[in-house]
Amino acid sequence: MGILSRSPTSIRRSEDGMKLLTTALFAIAFGVLLGLSFPSLWITKSYLPRTLLHSFAISHSDHKAIAIPKIWEPSNPQGAERLPHRIIASESDLYLRKLWGSPDEDLKKQPRYLATFTVGYNQRHNIDACVSKFSDNFTIVLFHYDGRTSEWDDEFEWSKNAIHISVKKQTKWWYAKRFLHPDIVARYDYIFIWDEDLGVDHFNAEEYIHMVRKHGLEISQPGLDPERGFTWQITKKREHFEVHKETDEKLEWCSHPPRPPCAAFVEIMAPVFSRDAWRCVWHLIQNDLVHGWGLDFALRRCVEEPAYEKIGIVDSQWIVHQFIPSLGSQGTAQKGKAPWQGVRDRCHMEWKMFESRVDKAEKDHFKSLQVESPSNSTTTH
Ligand SMILES: *[C@@H]1O[C@H](CO)[C@@H](O)[C@H](O)[C@H]1NC(C)=O
Ligand SMILES: *[C@@H]1O[C@H](CO)[C@@H](O)[C@H](O)[C@H]1NC(C)=O
Repeated sequence: MGILSRSPTSIRRSEDGMKLLTTALFAIAFGVLLGLSFPSLWITKSYLPRTLLHSFAISHSDHKAIAIPKIWEPSNPQGAERLPHRIIASESDLYLRKLWGSPDEDLKKQPRYLATFTVGYNQRHNIDACVSKFSDNFTIVLFHYDGRTSEWDDEFEWSKNAIHISVKKQTKWWYAKRFLHPDIVARYDYIFIWDEDLGVDHFNAEEYIHMVRKHGLEISQPGLDPERGFTWQITKKREHFEVHKETDEKLEWCSHPPRPPCAAFVEIMAPVFSRDAWRCVWHLIQNDLVHGWGLDFALRRCVEEPAYEKIGIVDSQWIVHQFIPSLGSQGTAQKGKAPWQGVRDRCHMEWKMFESRVDKAEKDHFKSLQVESPSNSTTTH
């Protein structure tokens, strides 16, 4: 993997390689034979009294303790107890470093915000417009679902400093689960996980963060231009507001305390998470439910109650949802259905599956505590 070979003797003659291979094969064959002939040997070992094994282990480790003092630091992250505490780097970032010079001098900037977009090359001009609204206080990550990455560098200067992750035909929640582990993105105060079809003429990311901080929003999204269509009332941008946290129109499924989709709700299209909220939401994302449908109804579980105060829509920085079918067209025609239909069907199926998983998990939890579940349902269809 390295560019420079560590040892000049690493180039072996192929003869040596052959010899090594033959020896290895022979050794394996011998081992198998031995195992077949003396299976009782292994059985006896596993039936040795536990106390006996234990005392072996103790005398063994006592013996070692004299030679080298052992490290076992229970407060270290699980699995790393053998390391001295101060060498542990349990969190990371997405900062680009140099191959030369002193590591101290690598970073001119250490951005505190992260913006990710899941993109196809066809949407590059829109993404270019988006990125222009994010200052250099942001690390930019592009997840490429169409496998086209290098072309971006030819066209956009900013692309050379962005992080490109290319895996074909996956969704943003798939990428987020795999590449945005909370420990990896621990340096960022806020994380934007955005679609590629958002119009940002009336949006400025620094201003947005200012609003989010001011109003204490752990999870948020920009308001949507009401002229251009929206799915849920609450996401509609309001005039003369900085942020809002509830719908103006009471829908029949609104309850007290206010619950999604009337409050404590943002859509999965353009969410922004605080570091703490993301640490929770990452755990909520299911590995197999790639479209993330239904996640929006469960986000409230990831903030302190009352959730309707920590989740909101920023009105003063708003966006346009352009409804460009993108990933949908990356599906495959099946059983006479158009590719987009197959994708859409899966979205709905995932929503139901997610909802019932959350419900069941919650019920099981309260059952194990022998108290009644405080809520019956997570979402409303
Ligand atoms: C970047 O962040 C710093 C520190 O918060 C701030 O002073 C600066 O104005 C920001 N840059 C832009 C372009 O807003
Ligand atoms: C849950 O549902 C049951 C039956 O549908 C109902 O009797 C009960 O009051 C509900 N509990 C809550 C907390 O809504």
